Amino acid sequence: MPELNVVTRDGAQQTITASANASVMEAIRDSGLDELLALCGGCCSCATCHVYVDPSFAATLPPVTEDESDLLDGSPHRGDYSRLSCQLMMTDELSGLTVTIAPED
Ligand code: FES
Repeated sequence: MPELNVVTRDGAQQTITASANASVMEAIRDSGLDELLALCGGCCSCATCHVYVDPSFAATLPPVTEDESDLLDGSPHRGDYSRLSCQLMMTDELSGLTVTIAPED
C-alpha cells in the first residue's frame, strides 16, 4: 500500500499508509490526524483540505481542475504547490509523496 508523508501545522512529520483507492484527504483523515476539516467530505466544494505537495511530485499529479483552482483562489494561503487533497488519489506511483497541511483560512 502506498505511503504518504504528512507534515502537520506544527512542523511534525509522520508517515502513514493509504488504503487502496483512498484520496490523500481520506488517508490523512483515516490516520487519525485531525488538522484537515474536509468539511464537504471530498466533493470539491469547501477547500478545507488544502495541502502543499512536494514539488518533486508535482508533475506526477493530475492537473488542477478549474473547480479546484477556483476554490484554491479563495485561500490567502494558495501557493505554487497548493492542491485540494480530496482531489488526489493515492496510487503506488505516488508512494513517498510528502504533503504539508496548509494554514487554516
Ligand atoms: S474536502 Fe472539501 S474540497 Fe476537499
